[in-house]
Amino acid sequence: MPGESDRTVLPPSGWVVKHGGMIPPGGEVLDVACGSGRHGRFFRSLGHPVVMLDRDISQVADMASDDDVEIVAQDLEGGRPWPLAGRQFAGVIVVNYLHRPMLPALVASVQPGGALIYDTFAVGNEAYGWPSNPDYLLHREELLIAVRPELVVMAFEDVEETEPRPAVRQRIMAVRPKRSV
Ligand SMILES: C[S@@+](CC[C@H](N)C(=O)[O-])C[C@H]1O[C@@H](n2cnc3c(N)ncnc32)[C@H](O)[C@@H]1O
Repeated sequence: MPGESDRTVLPPSGWVVKHGGMIPPGGEVLDVACGSGRHGRFFRSLGHPVVMLDRDISQVADMASDDDVEIVAQDLEGGRPWPLAGRQFAGVIVVNYLHRPMLPALVASVQPGGALIYDTFAVGNEAYGWPSNPDYLLHREELLIAVRPELVVMAFEDVEETEPRPAVRQRIMAVRPKRSV
């Protein structure tokens, strides 16, 4: 029957797979602007409870019957408040999405011992096409500046790459110390 089984979900970002092991086992993972849910699905397959957040949750509707999946439909832009205020997660995942005013809320959403894993397009990508809107392109070192000093940076890159297509991307994996010093 056409429909569910025809849905193609891309594999998770290599950066997320590479650093996903930094998220405490069994800890709750938030997939921000989850789209098809490829990252939440990846962490769910590893046994993590997940929260799937997007303004369009149609692509993750099939996950709704799982007791360890929470689906939150929310437009994150237009000055709306962060919908998960006061909650923290073992992992916060953001891939191919940027809404600058939300960066402080993302950092605050990482629990002690937890990790933020972020991977999206950066300035310079406009030479290659979508996305070219400066609002969707990270400035040089912007993720480093956004997470410090609250989180400790474990890995960072700002790279021009050719595969799977030419793009300029910035990536970070940063953790919140278990105790402040
Ligand atoms: C390029 S997709 C990335 C999806 C997913 N993170 C991934 O890597 O496969 C961008 C996602 O951001 C979501 N999005 C765009 N604007 C949004 C907004 N204002 N509020 C909430 N989600 C939004 C879209 O619905 C879409 O699912």
